[in-house]
Amino acid sequence: MAQALLTMPVVAVIGAKGGVGKTTVAANLGTSLADAGRSVLAIDLDPQNALRFHLALDRTACECGLAGVLAGRANWAQAMQSGRGGVVLLPFGAIDDEHQIDLERQLADHPGWLADTLARFRLPPETVVLLDTPPGPSVYLQQALRVAQLGVVTVLPDAGSFATLPLVDRMVDKYCRGRPDFIASVCLVNQVDAGKRLNRDVLQALRHELGDRLLGVVHQDQAVCEALASATDVRRYAPFSQAADDFVQCARQVLRRLAPPAHPAEIRRP
Ligand SMILES: Nc1ncnc2c1ncn2[C@@H]1O[C@H](COP(=O)(O)OP(=O)(O)O)[C@@H](O)[C@H]1O
Ligand SMILES: [Mg+2]
Repeated sequence: MAQALLTMPVVAVIGAKGGVGKTTVAANLGTSLADAGRSVLAIDLDPQNALRFHLALDRTACECGLAGVLAGRANWAQAMQSGRGGVVLLPFGAIDDEHQIDLERQLADHPGWLADTLARFRLPPETVVLLDTPPGPSVYLQQALRVAQLGVVTVLPDAGSFATLPLVDRMVDKYCRGRPDFIASVCLVNQVDAGKRLNRDVLQALRHELGDRLLGVVHQDQAVCEALASATDVRRYAPFSQAADDFVQCARQVLRRLAPPAHPAEIRRP
């Protein structure tokens, strides 16, 4: 059966490695896009269920999530919740190993599940759907790539991350290219420390190699870890920090890629 074409943009935050900042990027792009006046639905497609640490107003209400809906334990209204900065959060939910295997089998048997589900939500076209994904190949990444119009590949400015780019590109080629609504796969370099020579060199190499595919840079910033420890996003924790500004710039670039605007989007201070 043909997959439904969605009216609202879907942005998938992806990457081959864990710990590079995918969840941090998904959360902070989400709140920055919401601050830019967009409605945002942030969906956690990672069984770690960690997006809630950044976005949930009530973390104890994240047990159910999309896993609970798939298991028939809840409906969508129960699974979704209002999150930080006006972002609507759909957590992954808490799940044990056996249920996770069942759920992954379900997703493998129904490759268009996410596309069909989002089509049924009938979200207005100005809503941006943001997907957080686990590292590397998985049924979750397949679901995300089958529906994403923009892929945001998150990498660190080190040689290891650089080397993983072809793996991610192959996944994007397989699931995204050829779809009429696919826009691009862009790269966000996270945790850049301009004081480190290797960081500067890798960043320069990435700029050269990626050209316009480089979405932006987020610096290594203490405010990011502190915001997480305070269960909030960086802009609400430290609005004038380097990282908060970086996320605003990256969100602006996301909006530019989704629909080139006549005037650059104004992103308010929270
Ligand atoms: N720009 C940054 N500056 C400082 N710490 C960061 C930055 N981005 C991410 N981190 C930290 O790195 C760790 C891993 O981030 P996370 O978003 O969970 O990665 P992933 O989702 O890729 O596994 C977290 O402790 C997070 O606070
Ligand atoms: Mg993560």
